[in-house]
Amino acid sequence: MDAVFQRCINPDCAATCGVEETAFVCPRCGGLLDVAYDWDRLEPPKTLRDFEAKWADRANPLSFSGVWRFRELLPFAPPEQVLTIGEGQTILQRADEVAGYVGLDPGRLFLQYEGLNPSGSFKDNGMTAAFTHARLVGARRAACASTGNTSASLAVFCSATGLMRAVIFIGSGKISYGKLAQALDHGALTVQIAGDFDDAMQRVQQVARRLGIYLVNSINPFRLEGQKAIMYRVLEALRWEVPDWVVVPGGNLGNVSAFGKAFIELAELGLVERVPRLAVINAAGANTFHQLYEKLGLRWEKGRPKADVIGGYYRGLDAEHIRAATIASAIEINRPVNLAKALRALEHCGGIVREVTDQDILDAKAKVGAGGLGCEPASAASVAGARRLRLDGVIEPGERVVCILTGHQLKDPTATVAYHSTDQKTFDEVLGKRGVRRATFANRAVQVPNDLDEIIRAIEVYS
Ligand code: F0G
Repeated sequence: MDAVFQRCINPDCAATCGVEETAFVCPRCGGLLDVAYDWDRLEPPKTLRDFEAKWADRANPLSFSGVWRFRELLPFAPPEQVLTIGEGQTILQRADEVAGYVGLDPGRLFLQYEGLNPSGSFKDNGMTAAFTHARLVGARRAACASTGNTSASLAVFCSATGLMRAVIFIGSGKISYGKLAQALDHGALTVQIAGDFDDAMQRVQQVARRLGIYLVNSINPFRLEGQKAIMYRVLEALRWEVPDWVVVPGGNLGNVSAFGKAFIELAELGLVERVPRLAVINAAGANTFHQLYEKLGLRWEKGRPKADVIGGYYRGLDAEHIRAATIASAIEINRPVNLAKALRALEHCGGIVREVTDQDILDAKAKVGAGGLGCEPASAASVAGARRLRLDGVIEPGERVVCILTGHQLKDPTATVAYHSTDQKTFDEVLGKRGVRRATFANRAVQVPNDLDEIIRAIEVYS
């Protein structure tokens, strides 16, 4: 067998297939696939500090990339095949103001700002890996279903590299303007289907199979290889110390799956002495994972999570016509494709799941913004979730916590402007129907007549 291959995540099945396969489902049982490595035949680093040598080699695009400078930990492609657009130049910022809001001691909260990626979200970490694989297999067209960020990332990568033509599926009226603008401006074929993300996700898999289009959703295990690098950069920024908690919003559950795999491998390779605890935060209006994990007790169970629990839950959603609904449109998802991998991640990393309301999300978002970083609503779920976990006494005030800010503030200006608006009608239209009642941390614009004295008076009153 090759040193790199694809393998079913269910240990009882463990069917394998070659790197060149693009079906992205287990050929035997239909389950999810991992990219698997025979580390004995590869050259993983001896210590994480070895990566620091890459810092002096920034003229090399592979060492500049925040994903590929860790390429020895995702060695599925020869270096000359790697396709990078300079993704992953992101920062881990100590955020004491926000720590106060969350209830943590100064110096204990860090925000990993993935909004700094070329397309403005963490997806670029995965897209560079998917594109590298697509290049290996000679794909000419790529497709995804999206709540907006995967499609933006795909559109950017297609236009920047010219490797493939982008076909994106979005739920009609379901994605924010910033993200739709990206898909259109970067020239993607944009298919708006009458339905939501969960519908689009089912359709894109059928279409990709029928037309032989390369799928870049996070069901593609190569994408998740790239997203492991978010954790490598967190460790790098903490000088290779493992935080106590990593808190991440949960939608399709790709990120948490990738983070779990990163830590499982680092532990196996003896590169870390312990792993952090992982907390996944759902929006209350799209809380499948919270329900399954915390209420129905669904667990990994050595690769055999109870299918009847999952099936029963989804039948219940259908019977009651429940669709995902949250202001955090990026995570407005009720049928996460990476459910099983996420369970595995939580099993290995002492994981827990919480849900937060749209009110909690927008208040946390305003605090993150006032603290210096702009994020979109879904990202703020991580901070709202950390606060919830502090209030519940699960996280201690002195623990070191990293919240992932998955996407940039400018992705969704509508939600932000409505929160800070002086106009009750705008507030009600955008937020009222989501159950948001107050804008406790609103920064309202001041209305003044076009008169110098009045303007000066207003500035003196308010500043
Ligand atoms: N945060 C943002 C900003 C996202 O765009 C997404 C997912 C998530 C969090 C959730 O991440 O799926 O790995 O659990 N957006 C996908 C999309 C679904 O289509 O852009 P996940």
